[in-house]
Amino acid sequence: MKPVALNDFIYWVGGIDWDLRNFHGYMTQRGSTYNAYLIMDEKITLIDTVKYYLFDEMIERISKVVDPAQIDIIISNHVEMDHSGGLPRLLELCPNATLITSPNGAKGLEAHYKKNWNYKVMKTGDSIPLGKTTLQFILEQMVHWPDNMGCYMPETKILFSNDAFGQHLATSERFDTEYPLDIIMYEAKKYYANIVLPYDKQTQKLLDALSTLDIAMIAPSHGIIWKDHVKEIVTHYNNWAANKTTNKALIIYDTMWNSTRLIAHAIKNAFEAKNIPVQLYDLKTIHISDIMTEVLDAKYICIGSPTLNNNMLPTVAAFLTYCKGLAPKNRVGLAFGSYGWGGQSVAQVEAVLQEMGWQLLPSIKVQYVPDEQLLVTIAQQIIEKING
Ligand code: FEO
Repeated sequence: MKPVALNDFIYWVGGIDWDLRNFHGYMTQRGSTYNAYLIMDEKITLIDTVKYYLFDEMIERISKVVDPAQIDIIISNHVEMDHSGGLPRLLELCPNATLITSPNGAKGLEAHYKKNWNYKVMKTGDSIPLGKTTLQFILEQMVHWPDNMGCYMPETKILFSNDAFGQHLATSERFDTEYPLDIIMYEAKKYYANIVLPYDKQTQKLLDALSTLDIAMIAPSHGIIWKDHVKEIVTHYNNWAANKTTNKALIIYDTMWNSTRLIAHAIKNAFEAKNIPVQLYDLKTIHISDIMTEVLDAKYICIGSPTLNNNMLPTVAAFLTYCKGLAPKNRVGLAFGSYGWGGQSVAQVEAVLQEMGWQLLPSIKVQYVPDEQLLVTIAQQIIEKING
């Protein structure tokens, strides 16, 4: 349980959640970390805490640097309990510490913990001197809760960004120079797709504010600290927040007796014929949060379901509910599926795609089992409709 030095007076003292596999519905196959940062300036300062069950781990790390009772300032940048869960016990250890949070943070902490804590509230532009260094506060409203806040230390050029730029990734390494970059980037993309995506306008506003700062290091509240790849992750965030897509197609479906799968493969053939990279996902075998990672930069999204009891399959409904909530924009959608009688599923899928404001390709609906000739015709019709 060692602290990890960011420089000669700032330490990572967070917790590593090696076994976490489900973060309210987001599959976290690589676990996560809750990052807390200890600043050993004249005012000893702790930025954020950890989930309640990792409190002792955090205290052990802090204790290797300083007695936790000596902490002067605690900054709560986010109410969500993966970061504030350690606050009640910490404030018992250092009852005289000043608790700093955002205006919505004060309301949120009170609503969560029902304590009469003495808050000092910060907003964008406010700063506090710690001694030889300063922390400047930046409200990060709705990236991704109303209370999120970050802080920037101009003397070291470190941005403590809170959830923004995070990744759910449990590692003993702390910096982007120490761990495979493709995995870090994948997990940063998955984090954006599953957490930040609905808040593109607020993220763009935050990125505009950050563009005025000279940032040498981004220390988020989850995962790896960005040191050598700050520019790359900021560029990715700019692209993701702008809903920029690549010429890539996803075919996402479930099937009962293989007919919807046959249509899915005919659609795949059409994209292949147009030299557009295509991926097929059977919803029985892949989690919706993993699919969203691919949705983040895919232009074409085709969704298929047979009709079961006058409805789409529950797996498809679950994906569409999740996707609609995350609200990816500027996509081209296509609804498809098979049916025996009734055949409501395709129109139901298409209605959700319309609600998301996507441009639509003509839907495909096949009764019972498509024959080879029909599959060729379906592929040909799609080829004629795809631009690219
Ligand atoms: Fe990592 Fe929004 O909490």
